Amino acid sequence: MKTLKQFIFIVSILILANSCKENNDEKPSTVIALKEAYNENFYIGTALSENQILEKDSLVTALISKEFNSITSENIMKSMFIHPTKDAFDFKLTDKYIAFGKKHDMFIHGHTLIWHSQLAPWFSEIKDSTEMALATENHIKTIVSRYKGKINSWDVVNEALNEDGTLRKTAFLDALGEGYLALVFKWASEADSNTDLYYNDYNMTDVAKRKGAIRLVKKLQEKGIKIDGVGMQGHWHIDSPSIEEIEESILDYASLGVKVAITELDINLLPSPWDLVGADVNQNFEGSEKMNPYPKSLPDSIQTKLANRYQDIFKLFLKHQDKISRVTFWGVNDGQSWLNDWPIEGRTNYPLLFDREFKPKQAYDSIISLKK
Ligand code: G3I
Repeated sequence: MKTLKQFIFIVSILILANSCKENNDEKPSTVIALKEAYNENFYIGTALSENQILEKDSLVTALISKEFNSITSENIMKSMFIHPTKDAFDFKLTDKYIAFGKKHDMFIHGHTLIWHSQLAPWFSEIKDSTEMALATENHIKTIVSRYKGKINSWDVVNEALNEDGTLRKTAFLDALGEGYLALVFKWASEADSNTDLYYNDYNMTDVAKRKGAIRLVKKLQEKGIKIDGVGMQGHWHIDSPSIEEIEESILDYASLGVKVAITELDINLLPSPWDLVGADVNQNFEGSEKMNPYPKSLPDSIQTKLANRYQDIFKLFLKHQDKISRVTFWGVNDGQSWLNDWPIEGRTNYPLLFDREFKPKQAYDSIISLKK
């Protein structure tokens, strides 16, 4: 037996298969994983935490490898981590991320080159346009060329729009002006002309923001700048946006001749402070039962609501599979989700397909059943 690690990995697969078998004794025998079920439609991906990239838990690694055929790094490739000081890059974790992707035969996505949040502090200190141009070009070309032929697609720019569709005030807009978008996409394509380049954002089903995103893509296309896709993050709720709004958005972006990816899918089940009339979102809601209604477990009725919501959304994705390149969940299981700590810390949310024990939820079955 070659290496202990391989031995543990194979044993994990056997344990996982056996637990699936036990679970399936009562279920019909055609157990297929997510990635197989949607193999002919679009990639099914997940966002990986640092521990998952480092394969700290072989059972979790086995589940990721079994269910998903695309990966995105949840945090480690953001500028504050990958380029912490102006003169120093830190590729240790990203090299491991790439190795994970190759080992498990994944479509590897890069998240994200240019983003105002989790921005390396030295970037915000640059006010001079020439200095910012040199620094940003070096940032993009050093990273993209290092992973040329390994990273299959990039979020070149993340969240550059305000909710009204205008450009968000960022260190890049301040120092380089509106032209920064064309520059950063140009530099990325010069570093690797074969990787797909995306503009990625949230609330991309909202009319004003959608118009802003369409304007942004068209401006790049008019300048002959390579942009291959639009990423709709998909941080959605149990009842909004509507299937109609999601469909209109997919059709609008696809009509630009670019791919559409659902890049950070999760369904928030908890009340939002913004829905509370007169509530000051900065008010401390921590510990409020009203804002954390399911601290121990999710009632079956809500499990069913979540399963129906995910099934409706995947029916739509299948209807437009020719336009959709990838559907990535923002995390492997409920315990990992950022929605346990945002916008209120310390809540118990259930936005994904696998529960805190990494067991498939009713929502998982509802998506798989569409392909049976
Ligand atoms: O690295 C520090 C660690 O040293 C420290 O011990 C720990 C304790 O607080 O915090 C760690 O930093 C956290 C970081 O994730 C890495 O885990 C930050 O506090 C935390 O705020 C940060 O949250 C991430 C968030 O982006 C930051 O904006 C979430 O995990 C991540 O899921 C989320 O992802 C974003 C996408 O990139 C873009 N779209 C929206 C999406 C959700 O906000």
